[in-house]
Amino acid sequence: MINERRPDDMKRITTPELADAFIEEQIAALRAQIGDKKVLLALSGGVDSSVVAAMLIKAVGQQLVCVHVNHGLLRKGEPEQVISVFRDQMKANLIYVDATDRFLDKLEGVTDPETKRKIIGGEFIEVFAEEARKLDGIEFLAQGTIWPDILESEAGIKAHHNAGGLPDDMKFELVEPVRILFKDEVRVVGERLGLPAGMVYRQPFPGPGLGVRCPGAITRDRLEAVRESDAILREEFSKNGLEGKVWQYFTVVPDFKSTGVKDGKRTFDWPCIIRAINTTDVMEVTVEHLSDELIDHLVKRIISEVPGINRVLFDYTPKPPATVEYE
Ligand code: XMP
Repeated sequence: MINERRPDDMKRITTPELADAFIEEQIAALRAQIGDKKVLLALSGGVDSSVVAAMLIKAVGQQLVCVHVNHGLLRKGEPEQVISVFRDQMKANLIYVDATDRFLDKLEGVTDPETKRKIIGGEFIEVFAEEARKLDGIEFLAQGTIWPDILESEAGIKAHHNAGGLPDDMKFELVEPVRILFKDEVRVVGERLGLPAGMVYRQPFPGPGLGVRCPGAITRDRLEAVRESDAILREEFSKNGLEGKVWQYFTVVPDFKSTGVKDGKRTFDWPCIIRAINTTDVMEVTVEHLSDELIDHLVKRIISEVPGINRVLFDYTPKPPATVEYE
């Protein structure tokens, strides 16, 4: 399985039958590779790591140790969903680490976007390595590498850093059960492994999470406004049949305030920006135009339900010139 390449003539996995055949084949290969040893996996709750987890639970059960690090920048309900799906339903051996304070303390006062990204990435590896050191007898590290990651790293477009830059003394053999799959195939396989559709077909979410949607220095109150407004947006997209149709949609709460009025009193609060975009390759994106009714409803809900927000703005800028994320 290591360094396995996608055969040129491999049929695209588009049907439950093809997915089942792939799963059966990989489970046999995983059992042969892992034997009775233990495997470690950083389980973010994203599509790729979730599918890898579900596959390994089927193949080696309790020999898989999943570590879910909550860096405090996840969307509303995400850590709970990981625990409910993997620990409660799939009976996985799951270690949940709430490292929110650690991350937010390190990020306090940091305004530079790239420094924020570096702190989040570096701290993530530290927390994961600390958990790994507490465990005995781990020989394998599972990763949700997929075929485009391999192709992009070979083409020099993107460093393939799924291995996460663990310290040199932590040497594990890699287990990559979805490395020859394209993203759409990973989703079909995930569904057949019994993962919820909301997990398998979810929109892309950046590694630094809500941290890049809380521009400038992250504060807990503004981060909460991002999280709550994002949850409302997702709920309304789901209710209005836009989930799974629109490529990516989220809210941003910038670090400036403006004057407003509520219940006859002056307010001085943040605006909430809504961004909803479509794309195929993320190099160029177009804006999803929402109906007037939905816009009015979103404004009403966000203004009345999210503390600290007194204005809702819509970002109608394509990429280029604007990137998808604000930082
Ligand atoms: P941009 O902002 O570059 O975003 O137009 C393109 C796509 O990439 C996602 N994105 C990231 N994903 N780590 C990630 O894992 C990051 O640091 C990051 N920055 C942007 C973004 O959400 C969009 O889908």
